[in-house]
Amino acid sequence: MSRVRILATGGTIAGRAPSEVEEGYSAGGVPVDALIRALPELSGVAEIRGEQIAQIGSQDMNDALWLKIAARVNALFAADEADGVVITHGTDSMEETAYFLHLVVKSPRPVVLTGAMRPATSLSADGPLNLYNAVAVAADKDAAGRGAIVVLNDDLHSARDVTKSNTTDVQTFVSPGPGLLGTASYGRIRYFRRPSRLHTVESEFDVAGRESLPRVDILYAHANMPPDLAAASLSLGAKGLVVAGMGNGNVTSAAAAALAAAAAKGAIVVRSTRVVSGDVGRNIEIDDDRLGLLAADQLNPQKSRVLLQLCLTRTSDRAAIQQAFYRY
Ligand code: SIN
Repeated sequence: MSRVRILATGGTIAGRAPSEVEEGYSAGGVPVDALIRALPELSGVAEIRGEQIAQIGSQDMNDALWLKIAARVNALFAADEADGVVITHGTDSMEETAYFLHLVVKSPRPVVLTGAMRPATSLSADGPLNLYNAVAVAADKDAAGRGAIVVLNDDLHSARDVTKSNTTDVQTFVSPGPGLLGTASYGRIRYFRRPSRLHTVESEFDVAGRESLPRVDILYAHANMPPDLAAASLSLGAKGLVVAGMGNGNVTSAAAAALAAAAAKGAIVVRSTRVVSGDVGRNIEIDDDRLGLLAADQLNPQKSRVLLQLCLTRTSDRAAIQQAFYRY
């Protein structure tokens, strides 16, 4: 039987509400051992051990915890203490943690993130079946080599493609563009494809021994976007900026000039989009070559931020970082 380690970080899957039918709740309070005890069916799928890494709502996920989770996953695999890892996590920032691990885990073994949209104490809680399916994927040899996988509501998503699309619905995660990686039905897994971009063992990014990551801020574009936020971010220590641009990564002319000024001072500026799907290309309406800006290709702003943070641990060469956005 496969050995699956569950690393718990909190989230709604470990949330508690005052009653079974109450909208308000607090995330993360139910410890991992209680989640495992409540699901005796797991013992039929894998040899399970739980570990409490944090007990937070994933709005509070941060670089230090990412580094801690990555170090723990890499250590478990390096010591051959687990065949697969499941990370229970809030859904709010799950896609960011998943993509970070997709890029820094140094093993082909499965890393699976799951959570829930309804707290553990809720009527029709979705967490138990999500956890069951996540463990089944982590225990499955065929999941190896597919990078970090998000499992929720019977769907498998590649960490690179997945995004949260609804604030409250149990069917919240979507993978616009490439589509689902597969499906899970009461532990029976079907795969549709393999991720085509680089990840895990092919990735150049190594965060072993790191205690922090470079600061990268996200600026949200809108009609009448003011030009001065880019300079404010730089003065607060940002080494990189990601723009959640309008349409194909567009910003107001004044903001484009301010981004060019930030780039001229050495910041790496990546144009992504606030639109939920589609690529952002170079030199479409904004002259990236002239302004010294980069295009995010297919990554949304929050994942562009993750990739740019990791790129900045290695280089500040614009051409190399642009290539990274095409390769990862
Ligand atoms: C969180 O992300 O921790 C809260 C929301 C959720 O888990 O669904």
